[in-house]
Amino acid sequence: MADNDINSTLVENRQFPPSEEFVARARIKPADFEALHKHAEANYEGFWEYQARQNLDWHKPFSITLDDSRAPHYQWFTDGELNVSYNCIDRHLATQADKTAIIFEGEEGDTRHISYQQLHDEVCQFANGLKSRGIKNGDRVVIYMPMTPEAVIAMQACARIGAIHSVVFGGFSAESLRDRINDAGAVMLITADGGHRGGKIVELKTAADKALEKGTPSIENVIVLKRTGQDIAMQSGRDHWWHDIVAGQSSECEPEWVNATHPLFLLYTSGSTGKPKGIQHSSAGYLLNAVITNLWVFDLQDNDIFWCTADVGWITGHTYVAFGPLAAGSTIVMYEGAPVVPDAGRFWKIVEDHKITVFYTAPTAIRALMKFGDEYPNKYDLSSLRLLGTVGEPINPEAWMWYHTVIGKERCPIVDTWWQTETGAHMIAPIPGAVSTKPGSCTLPLPGIVADVVNEEGESITEANKGGYLVIKKPFPSMLQTVWGDEQRYIDTYFPKFGGKYYLAGDSARRDEDGYFWIMGRIDDVVNISGHRLGTMEIESALVAHERVVEAAVVSRPHDVKGEAIVAFVICNGERPVDEEVKKVVQELRDWVGEEIGAIAKPDEIRFADGLPKTRSGKIMRRLLRNIARGEEITQDISTLENEGVVKQLQGKE
Ligand code: WT7
Repeated sequence: MADNDINSTLVENRQFPPSEEFVARARIKPADFEALHKHAEANYEGFWEYQARQNLDWHKPFSITLDDSRAPHYQWFTDGELNVSYNCIDRHLATQADKTAIIFEGEEGDTRHISYQQLHDEVCQFANGLKSRGIKNGDRVVIYMPMTPEAVIAMQACARIGAIHSVVFGGFSAESLRDRINDAGAVMLITADGGHRGGKIVELKTAADKALEKGTPSIENVIVLKRTGQDIAMQSGRDHWWHDIVAGQSSECEPEWVNATHPLFLLYTSGSTGKPKGIQHSSAGYLLNAVITNLWVFDLQDNDIFWCTADVGWITGHTYVAFGPLAAGSTIVMYEGAPVVPDAGRFWKIVEDHKITVFYTAPTAIRALMKFGDEYPNKYDLSSLRLLGTVGEPINPEAWMWYHTVIGKERCPIVDTWWQTETGAHMIAPIPGAVSTKPGSCTLPLPGIVADVVNEEGESITEANKGGYLVIKKPFPSMLQTVWGDEQRYIDTYFPKFGGKYYLAGDSARRDEDGYFWIMGRIDDVVNISGHRLGTMEIESALVAHERVVEAAVVSRPHDVKGEAIVAFVICNGERPVDEEVKKVVQELRDWVGEEIGAIAKPDEIRFADGLPKTRSGKIMRRLLRNIARGEEITQDISTLENEGVVKQLQGKE
């Protein structure tokens, strides 16, 4: 940011306290919330020491809570030893071996229930199978699988033997897979013949073969799960069926006790610039924040059935599917398919069928399903739900209200959770029995998380609603350890300012009069109009609040007089406006934004299309939109786009 302030003008005043009924049964009540904060403020290290002893089972207890001698490389619980898989599975067996750990549903309606004991046995057998192929402590294993229980089993099995896994989302191309394998130096690839999605088969093994053909010299073995049963090529010596690997293996496998800081996994972030970064997470610190946020923010209790819709290819699928809820002893739901198969009611049918109590998804999914109308959710009994969550981007108040009324029937708190691949777990989010929510705000930092909004000099911004840099001022257990193989990039990306003392999140944010955090957008998505700084996400939120608009993305292009001009890419309800209609809708939307935010935020140009260019994970490709807005040649790879045709529409070529 060139100057200190980002103007923030979109004001949302509604507040929703949790019901008395919710508070009465919540794990963390207002008094507990205060006590947690007091403890963390009075004795930061003591607080985390206490949490780590309470929430994790240690093979060898730690004596050092935080080693900051190599800052900004922070090491937590450094001399302790534990095993993540033991903490997720074994420690529950004495009391709840028969409790369901995983409820799985395939797109075609096939279901499986896996108890904690069965999960233990399958993880051990597979871990022994990995060992039989020579996998040992510290080896990197890439997982490229559909959303079946075996994906979680593979992750847990790696953790059990100290192997470092790196899950690559099944929607990524062969090229991306190869790059990640090579960057990680992985010796093994675990995949499947295929997966089911949107009524089609995702050809995972074929893509894996392509990646391997392109050159992955470190790979020695490939394990293939038979999921779809289609014909695939198996290279003798290198490729092995999952069922052959586990055949005859013991269902006991002594956990490998690893150091607290032993890398649990690498996860490559969808690089908006350049080469993807392998975010490296620790074992103990990561798991600690994963467990406590499942307990605090999702309030997971004995009878809860928790469905986080994220794929295990993303951090959300690590922390809120594969590790955190299991470490909390909960029951999770996994669904392999698309949300609109056979129709837009599928999610709500799954909620009814499996009596889901806690549901966690992304605003983009909420908006997409909202578009199909209330009749889909209204067909199903959603009364089992007691808590809803969102993640990934700021949720626009309109979608928030729909989630609240049509899905939550005004009974369920909504936890809007701000965090990142790098933070490993929720950082700013409401603890639902203790914090009132406001549509569009991720509310307050969790106890022990020292988040702040600062100016260019690193000073706290005390003025309400004045934007600045979102930072975390103290290290926390689940903070990334480094960028795999690139220490310098770790420092340059996350500690480039403020004397290297604060973790720079890369988001801009503001705090309101109540101290609530409002995420305004990525620092690189901030536009400067006539010397006024505006968050692009705010303009999008305003556009989306218009009844005709389903989705919007805002970027800027250089402008002679104003410095930058705002270009909005808009998806309308129903038919895309064409010819005469375009002018009319543009006028309407410009006036609307003028009313919602102010004349300064009116888009200079609005273009319509049938969809926005998104990565397979649903992130809008802003850099591509900037190229289009500027009339520049498109040099980046758009072959991974879910919807390639919209690029032409946005360019005005169709
Ligand atoms: C970026 C991190 C964390 C899992 C999913 C994305 C944005 C995330 C929120 C939220 C506003 C949010 C931020 C952040 N973001 N959650 N609740 N409200 N923005 O993980 O790919 O690492 O992206 O997503 O911009 O920096 P990610």
